Amino acid sequence: MDRPLPSALARRISFRQLQVFESIARNESFTRAAEELFLTQPTVSMQIKKLQENVGTTLFDHIGKKVFLTETGKELFKSTRGILEHLSYFEMQASDLQGMKAGHLRLAVVTTAKYYAPYKLGLFCQQYPGIEVSLKVTNRERILERLHQNEDDLYIIGQPPEDKNHCFTYLVENPLVVIAAKDYHLTRVQGPLTAKHIATQPFIIRELGSGTRSAVENYFRRCNLSLNIKMELGSNEAIKHAVASGLGVSVVSRHTLSMELRNGPVVELDVDGFPISWPWYIGYPAGKNLSVVAKTFLDFVHKKAIKT
Ligand code: PGA
Repeated sequence: MDRPLPSALARRISFRQLQVFESIARNESFTRAAEELFLTQPTVSMQIKKLQENVGTTLFDHIGKKVFLTETGKELFKSTRGILEHLSYFEMQASDLQGMKAGHLRLAVVTTAKYYAPYKLGLFCQQYPGIEVSLKVTNRERILERLHQNEDDLYIIGQPPEDKNHCFTYLVENPLVVIAAKDYHLTRVQGPLTAKHIATQPFIIRELGSGTRSAVENYFRRCNLSLNIKMELGSNEAIKHAVASGLGVSVVSRHTLSMELRNGPVVELDVDGFPISWPWYIGYPAGKNLSVVAKTFLDFVHKKAIKT
């Protein structure tokens, strides 16, 4: 078999240097990379100094307190991600050949799904105790960015991109419901409320970039109603607190209420046209080499997790 000789650069740089470099670039911070890799900051700086000497140019620009990749840094980042991805794929194959499901699963989910995904992961890890899991939770806009950058194995999101560059399949219902404080005046109205009632109330909405927000805005737009936005908040927890304190009403995923609905300070209102259906899908970029662990997780959720 032909044996490709390592390039001159490959003979000089170490895997550790690449790992440190990748972590800094991904976290955009030397400090966070040091924390992630359990290294001291001087060690991280030393590894990067050596890597830069080996490559023959600088890889980061330091502007104020921020670090940015230089053009060469960006190219090295792409190559490094490729190397790490191949290695993790190899890790899965090797584990599978040994007849055990071990390895690493990187799952990224929309903020709202943080009330759902950990349960599925818990069950999955019980079945495959050798698997390590990392769960990234962020809003829809960031999940789409991560998907385009191919940063994770699998993604859970409502309304995924519908084109041939992505493979997504239905995962589970995600009803979006109207909530108010349990003593809010609308809770005393007889019969179902209408979208018009809701549009006249002070409304607490998620931040720009949230999928829940766009589903809500689209819904009211289709009803030819504009919302009376009182406050914009970046988390479902903060929204529930604001609603509980009587500041107004909101629309959230019913999953976010699973723990408190029964006797909590917040109740679901019966509103015509609600819940809005905003199902979650699970998937990955087309053409991605799914690891054995990721494939196993996909099978697992499709077999076991179709119910809410
Ligand atoms: P969000 O996303 O957490 O960004 O609101 C919800 C979704 O896309 O289902």
